[in-house]
Order: sequence, then C-alpha cells, then structure tokens
Amino acid sequence: MPDTLTITDNRTGKQYEVPIESDTIKAPDLRKIKVKDDDFGLMTYDPAFMNTASVKSRITFIDGDKGILRYRGYPIEQLAEHSTSFLEVAYLLLYGELPNKEQREQWRTNIKSHTFIHESVKKLMEGFRYDAHPMGMFISTIAALSTFYPESKNIFDEEIRQKQIFRLIGKVPTIAAFAYRHSKGMPYVYPDNELTYAGNFLSMMFKIAEPRYKVNPVFEHALTVLFILHADHEQNCSTNTMRGIGSSHIDPYSACAGAAAALWGPLHGGANEAVLHMLDEIGSLDKVPAFVKEVKQGKGRLMGFGHRVYKNYDPRAKVIKKLADDVFAETGRNPKLDIALELERIALEDEYFIKRKLYPNVDFYSGLIYQSMGFPMDFFPVLFAIPRTAGWLAHWQEHILDTDQKIARPRQIYLGPKERNWIPIDQRK
Ligand code: CMC
Repeated sequence: MPDTLTITDNRTGKQYEVPIESDTIKAPDLRKIKVKDDDFGLMTYDPAFMNTASVKSRITFIDGDKGILRYRGYPIEQLAEHSTSFLEVAYLLLYGELPNKEQREQWRTNIKSHTFIHESVKKLMEGFRYDAHPMGMFISTIAALSTFYPESKNIFDEEIRQKQIFRLIGKVPTIAAFAYRHSKGMPYVYPDNELTYAGNFLSMMFKIAEPRYKVNPVFEHALTVLFILHADHEQNCSTNTMRGIGSSHIDPYSACAGAAAALWGPLHGGANEAVLHMLDEIGSLDKVPAFVKEVKQGKGRLMGFGHRVYKNYDPRAKVIKKLADDVFAETGRNPKLDIALELERIALEDEYFIKRKLYPNVDFYSGLIYQSMGFPMDFFPVLFAIPRTAGWLAHWQEHILDTDQKIARPRQIYLGPKERNWIPIDQRK
C-alpha cells in the first residue's frame, strides 16, 4: 500500500493525495485543497500544538503512554543511575554521544573556564530589590549577557556559537546562586572550579566563612540526578519558546531569557513551587480528601499531577521518589511528604484522575527534596532552569542548523470585524 492519504473535499467532490512520512502529513500539502483558484487553501487549526509536530529532532524521545524518556537513545533511568556527571549528560544532549575521557576533560575545561561572571553583571544584579523573585533576577540577568558578548549574534559562526554554549552552561549556576545570595543579603561566593558542577553550585549557594566549602556527598549526588532528570524534555513550552525566539536568529542569551520566562509559569517549571504551596495549604493528612474533592469540582488543580505528553507515571517522578529517601535519610523526613503520599494514593485510586490519566509528574516530589536541602520555595524554578539550559541550547543549535526551518510564524483564523470606516470621536458610542 502506498504511504499516502487520500482526501475527498466534499465541498467540491475533488480528491487529493498527500504523502505520509513518519506517521505525519505536512500541513502545507493541504494548501492545494481549494474551492476557488484564488482561495488561500486548507489550513489546520491546532491551538497549543496538541497534534502538530513543528520540528524533526534527534535529541529526546518520549513515549507518553508507556512512560518512556530517553536522551539520544539512552533511557533516563540509566543516565540517572550511572552518570555521576551532569556535564557529560549536557554534552550528550548537545553533541549526540556520551563523551570519551578526553572529550569529557576538554568539555569540563571549556565549561569551567566560563563559570565566573563579569563584575558589571554582579553590579547589575545588586540593583534588584532585596525581595526580588530569584527567577525574575535570573531571566533578566541572562538577557543582559547579550550586551556583554555582542559577538554572540554571529550564531552561524561555529566557534562563536560553541563559546556561547560554554558560557551559558558555565554561568547559569553562578547567576542563580548570586540571585539567592542577593535575596539573603549575603556576600556572593565565587565559583570553585575544583568542584563538580553540582558541588560548585552548592558551594556558591551555602558557603559561609569556611575556607573551603565541604560538599555533602548525598546532596551533591541528589542535585546531580535532579539536574540530569531536568536537562531536557523535547518540545515543552520553554524549549518551543527557545526554538521560536531562536528562529529569528537572535543571540542565544536573548532566546534563553525568553525560554526561562516560559519555564517560570505555574503550569510548567513553576509547578514545583506551586506543589509546596499546595501542600502548605492542605496542612494536614485529614484535609487531603476534602482538597481532592475541591479539585474534582474544578476549584484549582492538583499541582504536580498531569502532563501533556505522559498519560502514565512520569519516569522522572519515579526516580525522584526513590531519591527522596536518600535525602530524607540525611536531613530528616520532610513532614509534607506524608501529605504528598496520601494525595498520590487517593488520586491514583480516584475515577476522576484515572479517567483523565493524571499521574504525578517530575514536579510532584522534587520540591520536597529541594526544601529539605535548604533551598527556598521561590528558588525551585531556578533549580529547574539551570540544567534545562543545556536542553534549550541543544534544541536551539539543532533548530538554527535545520534547513527545513524558517522564522516561526503560525497562521491564524481571523474572526474579527470586516473592513469598516473610521469614526470621529464625537460620533462613537
Ligand atoms: N489537576 C486536576 N485536573 C487536571 C490536572 C490537575 N493537575 N491536570 C489536568 N487536569 C484535567 C483538566 O481539568 C481536564 O479535565 P476536563 O477534560 O474535564 O476538562 C483534563 O484533565 C485534561 O487537562 P488539560 O488541561 O487539557 O491537559 P493539558 O495537557 O493541556 O495540561 C498540564 C497539562 C501539565 C498543564 C496540566 O496537567 C496541569 O495543569 N498540571 C498541573 C501543573 C503541573 O504540575 N505542571 C507541571 C508539568 S511537568 C513539568 C513541566 O513540564 O514543567
């Protein structure tokens, strides 16, 4: 049988044949379906991209029904279990293969040469109010980097492009930690390049007067795993934003700032913060059934539940749930864990959630771990943005080098008024 789709336009009785490739038809192929010769041609309407592939990608694979997530073919469970380095996973996402020893050393050197930020970036951050949301500081500072590296606009120069990738991955933990220290009124801690990516980040966050910060290995491991789990998730809202902004050929700092802004929303990377607010609001175990009832009545959502793609348990949530035990063995059990477990138990048995295939997602348990490690709630989206920067950059690079791509520009169905004439102000109703 041919790999084609035959369409009959019942308005005209005409038949059309369009090719099928990878279980997909190309929307522009529908343009030839017209009633009159000067018609625009048939379009597809797909708000929120529910069934539209906007890219061909080789980076991350998700099978939402089966709960599968793979980076460049490697199952997320294997990466989380075996990789001790966030940076090698970032390399995998960006360049397609796990690095060998030499490549890994060179890559680490490249990133570590770019962990410091310009002193004027620090001054810029000092200008924020003491209570500025760290994500707002993060987004603005990332955007400001384009003014420090004007050559970054040469995105098709391979060497320049790679340099900005090193800079962004190197600097995001520093900017994040400085945002935290600013809100605490504490002096900034400069990067310690002898430490791992996660270890250095913990040092910049929590070092006080000790000559060298002693990294807690349990926290370092937990953060490395959390960074790996959050590094990419194919065409999510922020990555789509990164690609969309990048499609105008702007520098990667500006695109990354936009992606981070998209991430901040409570339906996306802001959900981990929202989960903790929800658990606080519920307050105690006995209030869980009443809360679930309200959710079912449409009074708010069960944050950390549900996913556009996963219609099964989010594989990242499974890894995180296990990781929580290691962290709580070190810090003591987060008292909100019991409320979370009870919420999960009730929801997974409830017809409303079963019918809609709503399962815990990555954000359901991550906030509990972050909180136990001493991170404030408003900092959680920043913890998501640090590793996701690697994913954004991998997609940005793939996008701008993809010859199928052009500037992102959807069509619309115009439903507004037809042409009408100007009305002088004294005649308007
Ligand atoms: N609690 C209660 N009901 C829900 C939830 C939820 N968390 N999520 C979806 N539903 C219901 C929704 O009301 C709708 O019901 P009905 O068909 O009766 O109208 C149905 O399930 C389908 O929901 P939807 O909004 O059409 O699904 P979506 O694919 O557009 O939304 C989502 C996906 C993640 C935005 C949504 O599930 C949600 O808002 N979850 C809570 C926020 C959250 O945890 N976000 C983190 C996502 S994972 C990390 C990341 O990507 O950043």
